[in-house]
Amino acid sequence: MKDTVYEPSDATVSRAHVDHARYAEMYARSVEDPEGFWAEEAKRLDWRRAPTRIKDVDFTHGSVSIKWFEDGTLNVAENCVDRHLATRAEQTAILWEPDDPEEPAQAITYRELHENVCRMANVLKDHGVGRGDRVVLYLPMIPEAAYAMLACARIGAIHSVVFAGFSPDALGQRINGCGAKVVITADEAPRGGRKTALKSNTDKALIHCDDRVKCLVVKRTGGQTTWTGQDVDLTAAMRDAATDCPAEEMGAEDPLFILYTSGSTGQPKGVVHTSGGYLVYAAMTHEITFDVHDGDIYWCTADVGWVTGHSYIVYGPLANGSTTRMFEGVPTWPSASRFWQVCEKHAVTQFYTAPTAIRALMGQGDAYVTGSDLSSLRILGTVGEPINPEAWAWYNDVVGQNRCPIVDTYWQTETGGHLITPLPGAHATKPGAAMQPFFGVRPVVLEPESGKEIDDTEASGVLAFADSWPGQMRTVWGDHERFENTYFQQYKGYYFSGDGCRRDADGDYWITGRVDDVINVSGHRMGTAEVESALVAHEKVAEAAVVGYPHDVKGQGIYCYVTLMTGVEASDELKKELQTWVRQEIGPIAKPDLIQWAPGLPKTRSGKIMRRILRKIAENDYGSLGDTSTLADPAVVDDLIENRQNKG
Ligand code: PRX
Repeated sequence: MKDTVYEPSDATVSRAHVDHARYAEMYARSVEDPEGFWAEEAKRLDWRRAPTRIKDVDFTHGSVSIKWFEDGTLNVAENCVDRHLATRAEQTAILWEPDDPEEPAQAITYRELHENVCRMANVLKDHGVGRGDRVVLYLPMIPEAAYAMLACARIGAIHSVVFAGFSPDALGQRINGCGAKVVITADEAPRGGRKTALKSNTDKALIHCDDRVKCLVVKRTGGQTTWTGQDVDLTAAMRDAATDCPAEEMGAEDPLFILYTSGSTGQPKGVVHTSGGYLVYAAMTHEITFDVHDGDIYWCTADVGWVTGHSYIVYGPLANGSTTRMFEGVPTWPSASRFWQVCEKHAVTQFYTAPTAIRALMGQGDAYVTGSDLSSLRILGTVGEPINPEAWAWYNDVVGQNRCPIVDTYWQTETGGHLITPLPGAHATKPGAAMQPFFGVRPVVLEPESGKEIDDTEASGVLAFADSWPGQMRTVWGDHERFENTYFQQYKGYYFSGDGCRRDADGDYWITGRVDDVINVSGHRMGTAEVESALVAHEKVAEAAVVGYPHDVKGQGIYCYVTLMTGVEASDELKKELQTWVRQEIGPIAKPDLIQWAPGLPKTRSGKIMRRILRKIAENDYGSLGDTSTLADPAVVDDLIENRQNKG
């Protein structure tokens, strides 16, 4: 079947920063002369000392080292705020939309942003935070989250944002993991008309942390909360703080932030991004992928708890002097028109969201969309998971009114910014395809077993990258060996993404999903190992194996096979208890969708769980189980098929 191809309109092409010819010319240069190309692109930033050493990269397992702009110095906050003051002081930097539509929106100008970032930086300094110290942020989607990130950057501290949906345990692990000196949180996080008690979650987390860790609290709702000796009322402290704070001169390779993300084994790892390369890449991809121009109102609906919020709500847009919207709420509250009402209210020009939100809204019917005037929209974007053609078509036809190119941006926490995406004026789009590499990015399709690069245009295999780009992660916090083993061991000389991929006859890329034990639930990445370890931490559980299965709205759902301790009786109540347990251990996003009692799990004779079989059963595709001859006890499989939970 031939794919539907949507060519960009003349209007899109003539407005775009990069058209087809320019893409071809720039891309060729970016891979033939990366040093020259990126030396030029680095000029997007204001450096204290301009870099002369542009690229120093080694992908060899055992000696992996990634450095960009190594001898340059700069301050990231200065680039995102101060340098815009001369020309944009009164322009809105952050346009904040609260959860409750009745509460007024706030427009924070670059001048006000500067003042608030300085105030917060001074408070942090008062509490002993300096260069290289770690600060954990556990905040709602409020302007203070951006102030806090930039305040850390200003004084050379390293932030680690923890999504406000994570549990106290998950928060505590991350505070300890990066050895944070300070946690910044809020009393409560309003979301979808409900409130999460962030401060009391933080109190619970801190029980397991060094008692010198200080807690700075933003008064978001003013709701009742407990205060202890180590707590600081950040809202009051900021009011009293000075409005100026010098920005530290940082090395390009000094860490800017740590962001924990799930992998196929063990606990989440702290992805480290550094200052210069990350910011060049975030700024460039933001400008070109979304074709951002002065006067645009750009909206990314992500949360700053994820990398998308880092690169495409805060750092990219602010480095470019754009107006970035920050939204505290959810797509479906008070009604399924919320996104579109907000688009109309603020005349949004670029809108960037996740396929899971699109699918959820599509299910509510078109009337929620067509009631709003969406004529300001120019570009639509998606990120986080493969988008199915139906959702793509709905986004294109109903939201974009066949007028707005859809940029399906493929990237990862590890990559800092977009790796494969159509560019509005340069590429056609195909429903479900991520299309073409960004500048400097060299995707390859490898044979999964042999690791051999497939040269034919049409190819199917695993996706890896043959060279570095400035936004690439540099290491895993405190564990460089894990970094090397995770990304550079299996396929020598390449960065391995963990994703499967297809390249079509036109040379366009289609991401087919993870090939490891990572699942993608509503665009949130989760390691099945994490859910398993939460389950086996329950006293009634002997063993657990977790896999993903196709879910209409979430993309993937969480399917758990659980073996109970001898003598424990299986019941529906116990299923509910386990669901609540996992929710508490990790957070609501990890709540199991389906639990199947498994008297035994399919194992090889050496005791390894055969997940391929469990995946097939969960997918209701047990007709093609493949080779089961290595199973220790083939009868286990019949029982699992008989009692499978996904009979759809
Ligand atoms: O499997 C890919 C999927 O999300 C993974 C990265 O997840 P995370 O680090 O949480 O970052 C999400 C936001 C960048 C990838 O390994 N993924 C991301 N974008 C796409 C995608 N899959 C298909 N199409 C995409 N556009």
